[in-house]
Amino acid sequence: MDYVNIALGKGRLAEKAFVWFEKIGICFPEYNKKSRKLIFVDETEKIRVVFVKASDVPIYVEQGAADIGIAGKDTLIESKANVYEIMDLGFGKCKFSVAAPKGFEEKLDRKRKVATKYPKVAKNHYEKKGEPIEIIKLNGSVELAPIIGLSDVIVDIVETGTTLKENGLEVIEDICEISARLIVNKVSFKTKNEQIYKIIKGLKNSLEKSI
Ligand code: PRP
Repeated sequence: MDYVNIALGKGRLAEKAFVWFEKIGICFPEYNKKSRKLIFVDETEKIRVVFVKASDVPIYVEQGAADIGIAGKDTLIESKANVYEIMDLGFGKCKFSVAAPKGFEEKLDRKRKVATKYPKVAKNHYEKKGEPIEIIKLNGSVELAPIIGLSDVIVDIVETGTTLKENGLEVIEDICEISARLIVNKVSFKTKNEQIYKIIKGLKNSLEKSI
């Protein structure tokens, strides 16, 4: 039997995903939060978990390097990967918001400068509102941009709100809710159907019980 490969983003979703794996009887004895290992295997169930950068999960699954992935809806929207989005896993809940330094006042004499790791989300949001913007694509520490004058506002993920608060920013507008999704490679869904279906069913049952 072939292994089923699951791509997980390093970070907050991964820890929660391992809790769910355990609930449905998939065990990775070597896993612990502090480990730097990137591959974990359940030899009994023939399941292999690989840790990748969270934003790369959709591409691993689209390309078939992983059969299944757990990715935030944020990375799915941004990647536009051609995969099956099977279900909302209900964890990793957060939202996309527009934030700005406290007391921010709009300057309407020029295009609003928006710093973000999510240019598609930002573009889409402001297009819907019919407001022209200039996007400044960053890869991290986005909160810094409006503080040091690189942008007027940011479009980013807000989970607890701590990062914004600690950097003197506040939400000025919410864009949409996001959460973790289970995604599956389109070919694997057929070729490894039985194994993948078993995982999906297990997760579905556990989720239903927890509601
Ligand atoms: C996200 C986001 C914020 C932070 C918000 O970054 O870009 O910086 O989380 O979370 P909070 O509301 O709970 O403070 P992440 O931690 O995913 O790191 P990254 O910059 O490496 O993507």
